[in-house]
Amino acid sequence: MKIIKLPAVLYKSLKKSRSAGKTIGFVPTMGALHAGHLSLIRQARKENSIVVVSIFVNPAQFGPKEDLKKYPRPLNKDLALCRKERVDFVFSPRPEEMYGEGFSTYVNVERLSETLCGKSRPGHFRGVATIVAKLLNIGQPDIIYLGQKDAQQAIIVKRMARDLNIPVKVKIMPTVRQRDGLALSSRNAYLDKKEKKDALVLSAALNLAKLFIKSGARDASRIINRMKRVVNKKKSSRIDYIAIVDTASLKPVRKISGECLIALAVRIGRTRLIDNIIVRA
Ligand code: PAJ
Repeated sequence: MKIIKLPAVLYKSLKKSRSAGKTIGFVPTMGALHAGHLSLIRQARKENSIVVVSIFVNPAQFGPKEDLKKYPRPLNKDLALCRKERVDFVFSPRPEEMYGEGFSTYVNVERLSETLCGKSRPGHFRGVATIVAKLLNIGQPDIIYLGQKDAQQAIIVKRMARDLNIPVKVKIMPTVRQRDGLALSSRNAYLDKKEKKDALVLSAALNLAKLFIKSGARDASRIINRMKRVVNKKKSSRIDYIAIVDTASLKPVRKISGECLIALAVRIGRTRLIDNIIVRA
């Protein structure tokens, strides 16, 4: 496994692989790897001759009051996990390398970036789209692997690849959860024992919504109200949003028919968590 710090070095190494006819799978991450990340890496390993994992806590996607400084960075542990999964290249550049002096070009995926998480995290998806575009340009992979856990991010990256004619296939892998339902996230590390229990309201609310829809409920606002009640049962929780939206446009759905995305963001204590499911009526 090669650990690469410089964009030009990764570009050159992968250019060689490509001319040798090898396919490249790319898994972008911010590190603090857990089983959710590993499921993406394993899928990439299955489907490609070369697997690249990027580990980069991207400053451009953090707001001024967000957790950029305290975001976990257990690099050695991450590298050991990547080695175990037979990753070929880990790309972990320094921020100065990705955003050098005079950096001025950002990718903004309009509309899709302004709703749901975009409302309370202005600029977040501009940072995500920009770094993913940069990583795709450096790596030029055949397939990029993303998690359903960050549904809006995945939809935005798909849109960006289409709009900018980036020749990459975007694969979205299912959310990996603990046995109790909590979606794995690097930010779960911020939760204390009680908060970890309280955090179960996110998946509980989603499961309840799914149950309602399966038993015939179609009115989105009524389902959302039932979900709110579940989440608000915990003192530590504060709802950012609960939404039922179209899976392509992310526009709110009033009457559920066909496929919809049910998504929520909830603060548990000081930690903001997100989760979602796709339901077919
Ligand atoms: P990060 O939060 O590290 O997540 C990296 C990838 O792992 C994302 O595609 C995310 O959706 C996926 N992932 C996280 N938790 C998951 C889970 N429980 N099950 C399945 N997949 C999961 O998302 C980012 O980093 C960044 O925004 C990034 C795309 C790297 C750009 O900086």
